[in-house]
Amino acid sequence: MEIVKTCGLKKYFGNGDYEVRALDGVDLSVNEGEFIAVVGSSGSGKTTLLNMLGGLDEPTEGKIYIRGQRFQGMNREAKTIFRRRNVGFVFQQFNLVPVLNVYENIVLPLRLDGQCPDEEFLERIVSLLKIREKLEQMPAALSGGQQQRAAIARALCMRPAIILADEPTGNLDSRSSMEVASLLKTCVWQFNQTVITVTHDEEMAQMADRILPMEDGRIREGG
Ligand SMILES: Nc1ncnc2c1ncn2[C@@H]1O[C@H](COP(=O)(O)OP(=O)(O)OP(=O)(O)O)[C@@H](O)[C@H]1O
Ligand SMILES: [Mg+2]
Repeated sequence: MEIVKTCGLKKYFGNGDYEVRALDGVDLSVNEGEFIAVVGSSGSGKTTLLNMLGGLDEPTEGKIYIRGQRFQGMNREAKTIFRRRNVGFVFQQFNLVPVLNVYENIVLPLRLDGQCPDEEFLERIVSLLKIREKLEQMPAALSGGQQQRAAIARALCMRPAIILADEPTGNLDSRSSMEVASLLKTCVWQFNQTVITVTHDEEMAQMADRILPMEDGRIREGG
């Protein structure tokens, strides 16, 4: 089943001589349960693409469908709710809330949405990601790899349509990177979770079902 679709997606910043075509016509179709790696040189538009897909910024032109629905045209509140339910984010900097313990961080999106955590599902997630013993700890007491695994658990717990990850292993040493990447891959097939990740990490890219090579705001031929 197609879960993400974009048609003629463009994002231009600035204008005139200062115009930057960060995205210049991206047509993309992603099926449920696919693990996709977006690769390409710095400035090729990878983060911009993720921001568009996650509804963090508006495209200049083109359409985006997530589970057949469009962000565009939704008011701010509807958009926030739609994003919370359908998009999980994982960032290079982990972005855990420092004053909440790991468990509270993981269930935060559910709580914000007025839902009770499905403890059974949560148990599967935290044991798969090997952070069950860390749930009572504060984020600062965790290693980078553990923090990132907690951030992945937080993204997974909503069972979103897509998880968008921007260089999730960018701040980790090579051993933790491999661990985080392979656990993310395991989550994809265990939970049939669709993941789109930007990565500069060749090993992580090789784990993906499909690699999207970006160049000058477009997906290169054959990608
Ligand atoms: N808010 C903005 N205002 C102006 N230009 C921007 C903005 N965001 C991105 N750009 C420009 O758009 C282009 C694509 O940026 P983007 O951040 O998507 O690249 P990237 O592929 O993620 O690069 P990196 O690998 O360095 O993270 C760059 O030329 C960048 O300078
Ligand atoms: Mg980027």
